[in-house]
Amino acid sequence: MKKPITVSITGAAGQIGYSILPRIASGALFGPDQPVALRLIEIEAGMKPLEGVVMELQDAALPLLESIETTSDLNHGFAGANWALLIGSVPRKAGMERKDLLGINGKIFVGQGAAIAKNAAADIRVLVVGNPANTNCLIAMNNAPGVPADRWHAMTRLDEDRARSLIGQKAGHHARDVKKMTIWGNHSSTLYPDFEHATINGHEATETIQDRTWFETDFIQQVQQRGVAIIAARGLSSALSAANAAIETVRSICELTPADNWHSVGICSDGSYGVDLGLVSSFPTRSDTKELSIIEGLTTSPFAQAKIDLTIQELREEKAMVADLLRP
Ligand code: NAD
Ligand code: LMR
Repeated sequence: MKKPITVSITGAAGQIGYSILPRIASGALFGPDQPVALRLIEIEAGMKPLEGVVMELQDAALPLLESIETTSDLNHGFAGANWALLIGSVPRKAGMERKDLLGINGKIFVGQGAAIAKNAAADIRVLVVGNPANTNCLIAMNNAPGVPADRWHAMTRLDEDRARSLIGQKAGHHARDVKKMTIWGNHSSTLYPDFEHATINGHEATETIQDRTWFETDFIQQVQQRGVAIIAARGLSSALSAANAAIETVRSICELTPADNWHSVGICSDGSYGVDLGLVSSFPTRSDTKELSIIEGLTTSPFAQAKIDLTIQELREEKAMVADLLRP
């Protein structure tokens, strides 16, 4: 058996936690021959329900599940972590924007960033799912001295997958045929799903779907507002699809990206595409299994650039709102 990979997961007793844990413990992140050691982190109020989740994981007798630790102590929770999935935080309710959660959730990521820096393994990589994901990631990253900026990721994969699914439905194709779908900027209602570079079976999506009005209006709006639609229907925010997107994000960071595709993830900007250095923004990325790099050299039309400017401006505003949570 291989040495287990340690995965720390915050908010493990929540909705996303319930969807993601059995999948991680069944090999969905690192493959069918890679054991995992889970460190499940909850606040005190979540410890009792977490006990029940642990009982269920035990009852499933999963062959790859090496060990489970539960804790509300961050130092213990991130000890030796190779991956940290920062899910734990409050979800929004109907009528809220995700950034309305900054006041409640932002501060959670100060202590978590510091505890990761102090306790995690040298190869730690982090995915922030809790909303608003980009700016929470910015906060954690800025409070984790010594952990390189390229280890931090914020989840925009759910938006990418939503966009691929919508384009597939419109074109009469499966979502798997839709590739190179970039989400630019923030995981928020300003995100820009870049249909101009997307492909369907290797052809430009805009060639197959000759309906520019649909792309510019209904398509963008549906991707931007899908989270709201799910809250309206379920009375709860997305969980099954969010858990799936978190798994796919980690896989696309760890696995070689095929030449005909790329994936969207929020990462610390190196200034590419004019995005302010240090903002956590979603970009098109490709992995060589060791490093994740931004796809360079894409041309952005005036329409796309105006949308990208808007979402980057929102990230700047969110950064200003949490200035007191960022280390000098
Ligand atoms: P949930 O309320 O079902 O679960 C959240 C869990 O986090 C709870 O068990 C709670 O006790 C725990 N928690 C709260 N504060 C914590 C802390 N400081 N440390 C550890 N645990 C803590 O919520 P959910 O549906 O699982 O969603 C979790 C977060 O993910 C929300 O912020 C939601 O908006 C976000 N989300 C993001 C995306 C995305 O695409 N980025 C998608 C879906 C949901
Ligand atoms: C989503 O996109 O479904 C999540 O970010 C939850 C939300 O608040 O919309």
